[in-house]
Amino acid sequence: MSKMTTLHEFIMDRQSEFQYASGELSRLLNDIAVASKVVSRDVRRAGLTDDILGAQGETNIQGEEQQKLDVVADRQFIKMFESGGEVCGIASEENDDFMAFESELSKYGKYVVLFDPLDGSSNIDVNVSIGTIFSIYRRVSPVGTKATLEDMLQPGTKQVAAGYVLYGSSTMLVYTTGHGVNGFTLEPSIGEYCLSHPNMRMPEKSRLYGMNEGNIEICHPGIKDYAKYCQSFENDFGAPYSGRYIGSLVADFHRNLIKGGIYIYPATTTSPKGKLRLLYECNPLAMLAEQAGGLAVTETERVLDIVPTALHQRCGYITGSKNQVEKVQELIAAREAEK
Ligand code: AHG
Ligand code: MN
Ligand code: MN
Repeated sequence: MSKMTTLHEFIMDRQSEFQYASGELSRLLNDIAVASKVVSRDVRRAGLTDDILGAQGETNIQGEEQQKLDVVADRQFIKMFESGGEVCGIASEENDDFMAFESELSKYGKYVVLFDPLDGSSNIDVNVSIGTIFSIYRRVSPVGTKATLEDMLQPGTKQVAAGYVLYGSSTMLVYTTGHGVNGFTLEPSIGEYCLSHPNMRMPEKSRLYGMNEGNIEICHPGIKDYAKYCQSFENDFGAPYSGRYIGSLVADFHRNLIKGGIYIYPATTTSPKGKLRLLYECNPLAMLAEQAGGLAVTETERVLDIVPTALHQRCGYITGSKNQVEKVQELIAAREAEK
């Protein structure tokens, strides 16, 4: 039997790959892993205790109803980041503004983290997979001062690490530091993440496609053309694709990472900027997609190139297997050329 590699060992072994290998990013990744184990435990108990299931009774800045677990997860991660000393500030889906940590220790932290504490939270009450998505940047403000908005508003190309935790049939942590993508499964009996999916590569194409097709009439006509292409016998497989849409971005992305496929959440006439948030949903998954050989684009550009102007900025989002994303881009370009 080969030796089991824990996440902690793996992070330490790979530390020299970081541009600034002082150990702080390693500690930060370990902090995320620990916080996620606490959240995983809470998620696993949802339905058994009233204090974590159901609506919180408030809406967040996006006008969405917060679930109790959204708030529980948000607080758990913030507590970890605030006490760790590697992070000077954070931004999350559940907080209107970014937070600059006040302690002297935190002011010397070199990193900021942007995160979606619970993605797919409308799926909590129906026992469907949900997740946490995170994105890590080096701060641009001077070390020793408080974090600024400029630290948060960096393009995705500047991410030093990104990943997610999927609370699915098992709990998995998948991350990249720009040197490929690796996946770890939580072994519940010993409470350790263990390397289960080394060097993950997204297949270049598949017969799976996924979008909320309720939006089909109000999105870019090139995307509608792509859905028709997938449904027809005149495609590259000569038979209809299978539709797969969980409604938890992180779970849809994870399936596509392993099996291949495409996930589309387009800009629509009713939400012209799209639904998903650039900084803590689209960018981290875009970095993972590219690191695994896939692509992530909006209707017009590469996601990682967007220079953000607001914390909760949204964008149209198309991510997944390289050949499939390229096909949508081709059909969008054809429609644009008709204009
Ligand atoms: P969140 O739960 O963090 O607000 O994100 C929900 C997102 C994403 O996870 C999912 O893919 C998408 O919303 C589903 O939207 P629709 O219900 O409009 O399909
Ligand atoms: Mn989300
Ligand atoms: Mn969320």
